[in-house]
Formats: sequence, structure tokens, C-alpha cells
Amino acid sequence: MTPPPMLRHGTRARGACAAAVAVLTLAVSAAVAIPAQAAGSTLQEAAAQSGRYFGTAIAANRLSDSTYATIANREFNMITAENEMKMDATEPNQNQFNFTNGDRILNWALQNGKQVRGHALAWYSQQPGWMQRMEGSTLRSAMINHVTQVATHYKGKIYAWDVVNEAFADGSSGGRRDSNLERSGSDWIEVAFRTARAADPAAKLCYNDYNIDDWSHAKTQGVYRMVRDFKQRGVPIDCVGLQSHFNPQSPVPGNYQTTIESFAALGVDVQITELDIEGSGSAQAESYRKVTQACLNVARCTGITVWGVRDTDSWRASGTPLLFDGNGNKKAAYTSVLNTLNAATPNPTTPPPTSPTPTTPPPTSPTPTTPPPTSPTPTPPPTGACSAALTIANSWNGGYQATVTVSAGSSSLNGWRVTLPSGVTTNNLWNGVLSGSTVTNAPYNGSVGAGQSTTFGFIGQGSAPGAATLSCG
Ligand code: G3I
Repeated sequence: MTPPPMLRHGTRARGACAAAVAVLTLAVSAAVAIPAQAAGSTLQEAAAQSGRYFGTAIAANRLSDSTYATIANREFNMITAENEMKMDATEPNQNQFNFTNGDRILNWALQNGKQVRGHALAWYSQQPGWMQRMEGSTLRSAMINHVTQVATHYKGKIYAWDVVNEAFADGSSGGRRDSNLERSGSDWIEVAFRTARAADPAAKLCYNDYNIDDWSHAKTQGVYRMVRDFKQRGVPIDCVGLQSHFNPQSPVPGNYQTTIESFAALGVDVQITELDIEGSGSAQAESYRKVTQACLNVARCTGITVWGVRDTDSWRASGTPLLFDGNGNKKAAYTSVLNTLNAATPNPTTPPPTSPTPTTPPPTSPTPTTPPPTSPTPTPPPTGACSAALTIANSWNGGYQATVTVSAGSSSLNGWRVTLPSGVTTNNLWNGVLSGSTVTNAPYNGSVGAGQSTTFGFIGQGSAPGAATLSCG
């Protein structure tokens, strides 16, 4: 079982944290501009105005409840399986996989035009009994097989995977939680991420945890150091999930936005993945407002998921922590979130750093019409020989998921730029920065070695184009 979240401890920010905070404002990027539109009347519509999603956790056995399914379909466009894609559900016996309930949720989501967050590939908790009894290299092999099989089963259909869940300890250590996975070798987390990337290259790969909402907590700092290390060493990680389970004893921290900004500054998306806030009335509504506004204030906070639909559906129903009451009525907290989303700036994105300045080039700029004849050095904007191929990973009525593979030729790329086919529209693109119909590399994937490739993906609106070779430079 997951221990109760929200243990508070007195660790205070360190000097290193202050330095990290100082560079935060340089790091906002990557949300996608969409046209301004009228106020959204649902959470998903309102969130989409700033290019974000609004999601919920779904339990397969509740989908037959029409009130539940109606609210879920109307309000949310990102779906997490509350339990059905976990290790015990998907591999109850070793190497015998059961995707029945996970598929039920996935198919319901895709058929209704929604995206899916996968939860969770590797976790110390909710392991099947056979895995709980494993240790060492046997467990390592079983974990790799599990990640491979599950991510492959859902390949191309998952927006983001919680690859590893809750691997850090509570309290003041800032270190890892003891578990059989941790004892198999502390590199188990990066092995899980590399394995997931190989199995499903289009999915964003997230580290997800609770009690990492307060920037001053040792646990937050421990996760921050791991993500920074992964980015520095090229371990494939795309996002951090802040579960964000709050209650009056452990309220939304005053430095919550600092936490979001700090992770985003590492070059990862931040997603609020399991939001619930115990309480009622205006106090609860205000807490929900704070969380929503903090996410809206950071371009790379790409979406919010609440952990259930109605209070009575919650894992902690007695705390009435959700946006709808047991009868499916909208609570004050719902109105607070909706209004906050609707008040958001339509486009939170700062201009991409590579945007040209058309009228006043710096005096030292080289003259673009007379390049030195012998200079082969690629500098941003990109100059390396580059090719790009678009494939459709998945499609449904009204939308599709596309993957674009960007490949370097015989020389390496130092930045790349791809032109999307005409008619493609998207408000959700990852591993790249969209401006008009042009996608440039994200800060972390512009360097592509000779003969190597990288990918970006997006959710397209309307009919899927055919597989195509795209212009790349
Ligand atoms: O389905 C069985 C039912 O047949 C049986 O009668 C009943 C008896 O206890 O148990 C039911 O299963 C329960 C399951 O939820 C479905 O309701 C499990 O006992 C119970 O342990 C399980 O709890 C889930 C919990 O994770 C387990 O760790 C919660 O639903 C789920 O909301 C919660 O989600 C976690 C995230 O995955 C990670 N972050 C924390 C979050 C809250 O704990």
C-alpha cells in the first residue's frame, strides 16, 4: 500500500536551491499557442485555451455508471487508469499479461477523443505476489520484461507514462526509498526509463511522486537532483509528475510554483498527476485555485489530472477531496478551477530563443548571403544534413497521434527545424517547440550525432495525413 502522503518535515531550502531558482525564468518554453476563444464551459475546454489538458483518474468498474461516465466524458480529456495498468493488474502471474481492464479504460478514452497517461510501469507497491518475493538480478530481468511488455502493448497510444512511481523516501534524507527494486541496484530507475523509451519512443516518460510539491522538502530536492543528473547524462526523461495530494494539515505549499518552475528549468515538462485536496467550500476552492494558477504560470506545466471524478469515487472519499460531490454536482472547487483556467493568458509561451529578429540584426551578425566558402561548422539555426519522416502512431475519429523521426545524415546536427505538412493543426506537441507550422528542437534534443535520430510527437486534430517525408533543415 502507498503510505499516506503529506508527511511534513522541517528541511529548509539550501543554497543550491537558491541558485537553481535564480535561473528559473530562463526555462519556460514548449507550451503551444492556440487561438484565443470564448470561455470554456468544461474543464477540458477551459484548459485547452492555454494549450493544456485537464484529466482524471478512471476506474474501469465505474464506467458502467452513467453519471460517472457522463461527467468524465464531458469534463476531461486526459485519462489515467487508477489501478488497471499497474504491475499487479497487468502481470498477475510472471510473464502472463492481462490487459483487459487497462484496455477497457484506454479504449473508452481513445474512442471519446481523449489521451491517456499510463500509470505505472515500475513501483515498489502494488507488485504482484511473485514479484514481491523477488530480489537482485532475477527481479531486474523481470522488471525489464514487465516494462517492455506493457509499454509495447500500449505503444503509440500513451501520451505519458509514469515509468517509475514513488521511489524516494519520506523524511529528511532526500534519498531513495528501500525496496526490492532499489536493492536490485540503484540504477534500476534509469534502466526502467531506457527500457520504456526503447519500447515506446513516442510516449513522454515521467517520474511521479507524492510529497515533492514543497520546494524546501528534502524529498523534493532528492528528486530534483536525480532529474538533473538524468538530463545531464542523457537518461531519457521528459516529465515530472507532482501527485499533489493535499489536506488542511498539509496544504498547498506557498512555494508550489517555485517547485514547478524549478523542475521545468531542468528541461522537463511538469504535470500535476493525482490532484485532490481534502476539505470543502471556499477554503477548498481557494486551494484548488492556487494549484491551477501555479500550473498556468509555468509554460512547461502542461496539464492537471484530478484523482477521481466525484468525492465518492476517491481513494479517500471521507475527505471529499474532488471537484464533484457524490451526486455529480459541481462544487465550489470546480467553479474555482474553471474560472481560473478561463482567465489564463491564451498563450503562455515565451518566444522560442531561436526566433529571428527581422528588423534590427545585431551589428556583429554574419552576412547571410555570403557565407565563408570553407566553413562547415553547423551553428544554430540548424545547418546539418537532416531528414524527417512522419508516421501515424494511432488515430481515432477526429484526431491522431503522429511521430516524426528526425535523422542526421553523414554529419551531426546542432539544432534542427522541421516543417509540418500543410493542414496539420495541433495544440499538443512534445520533444519540440512549435511555431506556426515549424517545429524546432527542444533544448535537450537538438544535438543529433551523424547517422543518429531523435523523435518528436504531437496530437493532430482532424484527419491524419499519410506517412510523409518532411522538410528538415
Ligand atoms: O478491487 C478490490 C475489491 O475486489 C476488494 O473487495 C477490495 C477489498 O479491499 O479491494 C479492491 O481493491 C482495492 C483497489 O484500490 C480498488 O478499489 C485495493 O484494495 C486498494 O489497495 C486499491 O487502492 C488504490 C491504491 O492506489 C493502492 O496503492 C487506490 O484505488 C488508488 O487510488 C491509489 O492510487 C495511488 C496511486 O496509484 C499512486 N499515488 C498514490 C495514490 C493514492 O494512494
